[in-house]
Amino acid sequence: MSFFLEKKNLGKRKMDIKEILSKGYLIDPKLIKNLELVEKVFDKLPKNTTFISQELVDQILEKIDIIEDYPVDILKNYESFMKKRSVEDFVAYFRNRYNSLSEILRGRSELQNSISIRRFLGKQDNEVSFVGIVINKRVSKNGNILVEVEDLTGIVMIIISKNKIELFQKAKDIVVDEVIGIKGGCSGNFVFCNEIFFPDIPISNEFKKCEDDVYAAFISDLHVGSKMFLPEPFKKFIRWINGDLGDKESTELASKIKYLFIVGDLIDGVGIYPEQDYELEIKDVNKQYEECAKYLGEIRKDIKMIACGGNHDALRLSEPQPKLDSVYAKDLYEIKNLQIVTNPSYINIHKKNGFPGFNVLMYHGYSYDYYIANVESIRLNGGYDRADLVMKFLLQKRHLAPSHSSTLYIPDIKEDSLIIKEIPDFFVSGHLHKMSVGNYRNITTLCSSCWQGKTIFQEKVGHHPEPGRVPLINLRTREVKVMKFCD
Ligand SMILES: [Fe+2]
Ligand SMILES: [Fe+2]
Repeated sequence: MSFFLEKKNLGKRKMDIKEILSKGYLIDPKLIKNLELVEKVFDKLPKNTTFISQELVDQILEKIDIIEDYPVDILKNYESFMKKRSVEDFVAYFRNRYNSLSEILRGRSELQNSISIRRFLGKQDNEVSFVGIVINKRVSKNGNILVEVEDLTGIVMIIISKNKIELFQKAKDIVVDEVIGIKGGCSGNFVFCNEIFFPDIPISNEFKKCEDDVYAAFISDLHVGSKMFLPEPFKKFIRWINGDLGDKESTELASKIKYLFIVGDLIDGVGIYPEQDYELEIKDVNKQYEECAKYLGEIRKDIKMIACGGNHDALRLSEPQPKLDSVYAKDLYEIKNLQIVTNPSYINIHKKNGFPGFNVLMYHGYSYDYYIANVESIRLNGGYDRADLVMKFLLQKRHLAPSHSSTLYIPDIKEDSLIIKEIPDFFVSGHLHKMSVGNYRNITTLCSSCWQGKTIFQEKVGHHPEPGRVPLINLRTREVKVMKFCD
């Protein structure tokens, strides 16, 4: 049965639509909330069209270029290259990390006079400043923190006194393999620390806003294929975002969403953790992606979707993770308004009319478990419930996984792909299955929720998942709204 939208139901709409109707066209009532799409495709309708159906509009939209309206530019996708890695590759990788992050640190006025360790080691000097990579950290018998730091010329032991309360607290956040700046007094082979510097984000970082009243939405951790995947809330979300659910105000809000980020763990995968088989509804990754594509394929075609993989996707676990496999995830690649990117990746959205756009750093968040377990200031202040603290911590370190053992990675001798080189406007993640929104020096940190109920594994490790929340950022005001599709 088909319903035709009559002229009289249109009320005071744009002139163009009236013109279209005056020419005798009939419009699918499903399009009533998206009449601008009809205007957009009108000159591309096949000859002899009399009824403008939703399906026809979708087909045309897939073909025409809507880039100029809602541009998405992939600034950084990590290319992977096949090569057997050697010890030298790891050395080159850490050397590269040291050089990149020390460049950021040396840009700070406090560290402009920093010198190499060899130049002061073994001498007496009341004020030295230098940059090094942390190779070891422990607490002495007296309760002071001892940090061993190395640069390209030598190794030195730094002592952070427990009596310098503020400094001592800051030193607790130091993790191995990160690059830090130090100021202190040197005596022989020790430096008595007075100040610690993390590469960090400059305070002057701009809080960008655009002129258009449009939104970006964020989801992650669908885990399609798991018995705990929550299809009903997810369907509800899709109906809502398509404008088919909710009151006038809510559907109006949904219609303003033009970007949807999907931050990894699209499927539950196979063989990800011991005995996962018992928790799988679909035991084949191809079929899991097929099912996932059915859902995502239903989303409005004027929304630009950007998806990366996570630790449950059918990919290597080592980061940077390449794009989703085009064989396993074949059906996702067929969705025209979906762009698949690497994990991590940098994406620029909404660049237009002299506005530079927003840079989005997208990282699934596999390293977060390590920092929640090992960094006291995160663990004692909410742990798994406070992704914002982890994300702030990593922004301060300008690295997505500063400690060697916090994630698996592929050492790349040309660059450390996990360094946060460019400062993003939005830093978005998933993985923790609990939504969290924060702001650190004008960077919106956003961890999205999930579409999976609590698994036995999560029960064991103390997660408190909160499925079905969708944070939305208004690009004009930078305000964050949260939609709830699950109790
Ligand atoms: Fe997940
Ligand atoms: Fe994950």
